[in-house]
Amino acid sequence: MAAPYPTCYLNGELLPLAEARVSPLDRGFLFADGVYEVVPVHRGRPFRLGAHLQRLHDSLSAIRLPNPHDMHGWAAILERVAQAAGGREMLLYLQVTRGAETGRNHLFPKNPNPTVFAFASPYPAPAGQVLEGGLRAVTLEDIRWARCDIKSIALLGNVLLRDEAAARGADEALLVRDGLLTEGSSSTVFLCIGGTLVTPPNDHRILPGTTRDAVLDLARDWLPIETCEVEARVLKNADEVWVASAGRGVLPVTSIDERPVGQGRPGPLWTEMYHRLQRHLDEIAATPAL
Ligand code: PDD
Repeated sequence: MAAPYPTCYLNGELLPLAEARVSPLDRGFLFADGVYEVVPVHRGRPFRLGAHLQRLHDSLSAIRLPNPHDMHGWAAILERVAQAAGGREMLLYLQVTRGAETGRNHLFPKNPNPTVFAFASPYPAPAGQVLEGGLRAVTLEDIRWARCDIKSIALLGNVLLRDEAAARGADEALLVRDGLLTEGSSSTVFLCIGGTLVTPPNDHRILPGTTRDAVLDLARDWLPIETCEVEARVLKNADEVWVASAGRGVLPVTSIDERPVGQGRPGPLWTEMYHRLQRHLDEIAATPAL
């Protein structure tokens, strides 16, 4: 994410990010005991806000932390953060942890006082070079835990994998568990094989991506879709490979493990999907806000 805007939200207040203070005894800091969301704002509108807030709710339920706000409460908080930032293309980050206690206890506190934090940063528009040349990826063994469906702030596995990819000169790691493709280190993965759009199913091995759902919705009247387990070795038969996330939209992967994907250039199906997504965002922006 790009450098944040100067105003953030912490536990009910808007304040300068530079003045925001959280206890070092916060369970987020000590145990990574918390969850997060990244909500993109395009053309001044949060994109798929309902899906992000539902996933936040599901992540909180999965870690047995009561949701501190209802959907309207969350929408109002994000609106305040977005207003203070003033951008039209942004990423809104929000995080909820199980809060601070008087000491460090593995056991949950009986009455947690969650820490709620949010900030905004400018949307990192993909460089022309990425749109024209695509991303380089490497395949790596998925070393993460068994509940990748929870959007946990415990991202050590993800960041180690991303660092390993970077050390190998790549932009993203495509992860493989038991021979099956799961997802990117911070993205959902799609393959185009003989005109069919293929993506692994949502289960405990991957995060249920909001951009994944947007891509599937935009493909539905155009391409056959197969949601199925994908053996990693199938990657080399793919005509196109894409990665999708709220932070970067949908981007083409043009090399994997130093071998070209298809022609080694962004493919025609990706180009069409990219334009479909842009048109979809324009259409949303043209409808009156509720
Ligand atoms: N990451 N899988 C993982 C492991 C991710 O971290 C992400 C997104 C996705 C895509 O989900 P969505 O389309 O809802 O963003 C899949 C966010 C952007 C991040 O951590 O910054």
